[in-house]
Amino acid sequence: MFITFEGIEGCGKSTQIKKLKKYLVAKGYDVVLTREPGGTPIADKIRKILVDATNKEMVPLTEVLLYYASRAQHLHELIIPARQQGKIVLCDRFNDSSLAYQGYARGLEPKLLSALTELVVTQNKPNLTFILDMPATEGLKRATNRAATLKPEDREDRFEQEAIHFHEAVRNGFLELAKKEPERFVIINAARNIEEIFADIVNIIDMKLRPTSDERRATSDKK
Ligand code: TMP
Repeated sequence: MFITFEGIEGCGKSTQIKKLKKYLVAKGYDVVLTREPGGTPIADKIRKILVDATNKEMVPLTEVLLYYASRAQHLHELIIPARQQGKIVLCDRFNDSSLAYQGYARGLEPKLLSALTELVVTQNKPNLTFILDMPATEGLKRATNRAATLKPEDREDRFEQEAIHFHEAVRNGFLELAKKEPERFVIINAARNIEEIFADIVNIIDMKLRPTSDERRATSDKK
């Protein structure tokens, strides 16, 4: 399984993905928790450039190419090998973030994003994607409050400094993506408390990890 978590700034996905890792490890699964941009040393160096609020001159084309460069490294160095070893990969953001942020919100051509997706992601799409959905004003408030507790050099807030309509476009972008692939996406109402949100996620995960009747039959045939 390759499971991704997506959503606007401050939606709480990092908290939920860590809880899910703990839950799955306790059930005996081999789990890799990773994130984008980043996940490997080279991709983390690219991340630093992308989230640095002093990089104001970065043009949208440079931005999107850096996201896909970090994704190529992350896929080949970590995600693909982990999946080949039968691990569950949990990833905090993935390709849908590029489609929502660089596509829907920045306004880059869908053709360009499709070409980059085909070039970099190829068949390595997630099996399941949670969108932690909440109003942009609320997410941004949380993200801004969290950033205020950090030292300026640790803030990673290049995107948090975008205007509210940018974040609304990101949110709508995710919801549009979910409409196009309803079998992959699950929209979770993230404007609730941590435990309520997690209960919904666990319900879905338990359902997906339950062996199908064919798999159960195959296992009992082997015995
Ligand atoms: P994070 O705050 O969730 O770690 O993500 C870092 C920022 O990068 C966040 O503002 C969302 C943005 N982002 C994109 O714009 N495109 C992408 O493809 C990814 C993965 C993240």
